[in-house]
Amino acid sequence: MFQLPDNELIIALRHILGDAHVLTSDLEPYGSDYTEDFYFPPAIVVVPADALQISEVLALCNSRNIPVYTRGAGTGLSGGALPVLPGVVLLTKRLNRILQIDLDNFQAIVEPGVINEDFRNAVEELGLFYPPDPASKGSCSLGGNIAHGSGGPKAVKYGTTRDYVLNLEVVLPDGNIIWTGANTVKNSTGLNLTQLMVGSEGLLGVVTKIVFRLIAKPKFDQLFLIPFAEAEDAAKTVNEVLLSGVTPSSLELMESSGVDISSKATQTPFPMRKDATFYMLLELDGDDAAKLFEDAERLLPVLEKCGALDVLHADSADLKEQWWKVRRSIGETVKSASVYKEEDTVVPRAALPELLKAVKEIGTRYGFDSVCYGHAGDGNLHVNILKNNLSDEAWQQDVPKGIREIFEVCKRLGGTISGEHGVGLVQAEYLDIVFSESHMKLMRGIKNTFDPKKILNPGKWL
Ligand code: MLT
Ligand code: ZN
Repeated sequence: MFQLPDNELIIALRHILGDAHVLTSDLEPYGSDYTEDFYFPPAIVVVPADALQISEVLALCNSRNIPVYTRGAGTGLSGGALPVLPGVVLLTKRLNRILQIDLDNFQAIVEPGVINEDFRNAVEELGLFYPPDPASKGSCSLGGNIAHGSGGPKAVKYGTTRDYVLNLEVVLPDGNIIWTGANTVKNSTGLNLTQLMVGSEGLLGVVTKIVFRLIAKPKFDQLFLIPFAEAEDAAKTVNEVLLSGVTPSSLELMESSGVDISSKATQTPFPMRKDATFYMLLELDGDDAAKLFEDAERLLPVLEKCGALDVLHADSADLKEQWWKVRRSIGETVKSASVYKEEDTVVPRAALPELLKAVKEIGTRYGFDSVCYGHAGDGNLHVNILKNNLSDEAWQQDVPKGIREIFEVCKRLGGTISGEHGVGLVQAEYLDIVFSESHMKLMRGIKNTFDPKKILNPGKWL
């Protein structure tokens, strides 16, 4: 049974953190994230400076049965950090230092509040590369990326956040602090708690330091834009490209309605064609400039055979930036344009054409429009379902049935219901599609071992 935060708790928190770092008014910004239009009023917001303070805060809340919601930059797309019960929202924004970039070992030690792009820029200045680059890279925090196992356009070649995490410092709910692994690229010592923490959505502990593996920065990249008249052609091209033996550093698909909304809302020029329904963004990178063009030439007949209407090359830095801006802004601008629900479907990549067809067929049956886009090379399709003229009743009662059908298709095709946005609040009701009761029981047991009083992120899915 949780206790309600009271004055005594506020005094105790102020004693640990100092008055300035325990907030009790103007808390609205911490009650929502980027997920639909959810808002849960936070009771208390705390802004600790380090692991020791977090340890004291957690031990206090644990002894008093107070819920704790860890929050990074608030850019989540599944409502994972939302404070659905009255409790303490714990911000990581003061833990924002890059503590070390180790050029001898290609590693870095960072705090969770560092913004993804700041970290990427810092390592790139030294000739190194941290590939995971979610669309919100300019504003999302690395701690949030750990919480969701975030991906981004570079995952097709370089993998997601979890592929770069070597070791984590974690504060447990009882205040104990552990390191989950070692600062090594291999480790066969014990159970892998590091990977268990990645994607654990603030349910098991609070990450206070991250050791990342880095790689050498590729010297060159080339970007191509390929319009398609038929959705099915665009979707089947994804696998044809990958089967050709060329592995692009990004292989994205964007439905033209999303491109239109994004380019208009961001006032970014984009070579729209009336006859295109989908656009593919294909990026190649590497250290040999000539090889990139050889690879592009190898891909030309594949693209033509698959029905590409054209193959445009971004021959300037400006053009590259414009096309990427349009791509990265689709989610945010579609959200501004319409009430919507965002799904994060993922299937084995060869099944993408079947998934896309099913999404559109289900949409027609339930009467909703959707904007599809995402990391096609990973089989990860973001489906933004638009409310448009649907009645509130249809939106609340029928559309979830349609979403359930979409997720059932994902499961049937060997996929699952989220590729990179997490379960959080919004996918909880669909978990039965992918997890049996035995599977849920195992996960509940793990939660119970880490957090027996269940103070971390309660009211979500575990
Ligand atoms: C993206 O790929 O654009 C991100 O996952 C964000 C989004 O889907 O809104
Ligand atoms: Zn994405």
